[in-house]
Amino acid sequence: MRIIVCENYQSLSKKAAQIIGSQMILKPNSVLGLATGSTPIGMYKNLIKMYEEGLIDFSKITTFNLDEYYNLPAENNQSYHYFMYDNLFNHININKENVHIPNGMAQDIDNECLHYDKMIDNSSGIDIQVLGIGNNAHIGFNEPTINFNKGTHVVTLDESTRKANARFFSSLEEVPTKAITMGTGSIFKSKKILLLASGKNKAEAIYNTVHGKVTPEVPSSILQFHQDVILILDKEAASLLSKDDYEVVQEVSKVK
Ligand code: GLP
Repeated sequence: MRIIVCENYQSLSKKAAQIIGSQMILKPNSVLGLATGSTPIGMYKNLIKMYEEGLIDFSKITTFNLDEYYNLPAENNQSYHYFMYDNLFNHININKENVHIPNGMAQDIDNECLHYDKMIDNSSGIDIQVLGIGNNAHIGFNEPTINFNKGTHVVTLDESTRKANARFFSSLEEVPTKAITMGTGSIFKSKKILLLASGKNKAEAIYNTVHGKVTPEVPSSILQFHQDVILILDKEAASLLSKDDYEVVQEVSKVK
């Protein structure tokens, strides 16, 4: 596990976008695994800027999103469909046919889960998966539980997750109780994983991800077993780690 600590959220966002951008330059038809939540928004802004400056091209890129709320229409401004178009897809030259987000409105949700995994398998596999992390160490919407889930599945959201996400809805009651998410197994199949975390409220989850026992009660702890994981943190998210755990990123303009 490689851990990079950035000065602040802005520099974390830039670093994450540079890593995704490099992947796209090296392999223009990359398959990207994308995440929602407030943490990757800065990365998406930087990717849009890089696209506008002609540094990266999305025309051959395929994307798979991690998760979606269950039974929340795509047009709802709190759906992850809405989020992704608003924060990224509407601003870049991606072919919309190459965009995949689990359909939480599917009539046959079990079939939707199987179909989603099949689509990932039928692509060349996810080259790089972006992850945020929940305060309770969930990844995607894989909540702390008694066993790791392999494939895409429907989950009941923890009350703590619903409360944390209530800030985006007008009330807690409006936050869906269920979601559809890629399983830990699907995430684990990605060739490279880039986990972003910012802020003090993520520090404990990050400590447990890096040093904790590997257990489905701390879903992100499974990443200790993956061969190519990069954690990009700001100082606050890294505050419970020791300096020996990580490398510090210097802003290019500050390197003498
Ligand atoms: C949601 C998403 C996760 C995300 C988490 C953290 O629950 N399903 O993918 O990592 O929120 O969100 P934030 O970045 O807003 O703290």
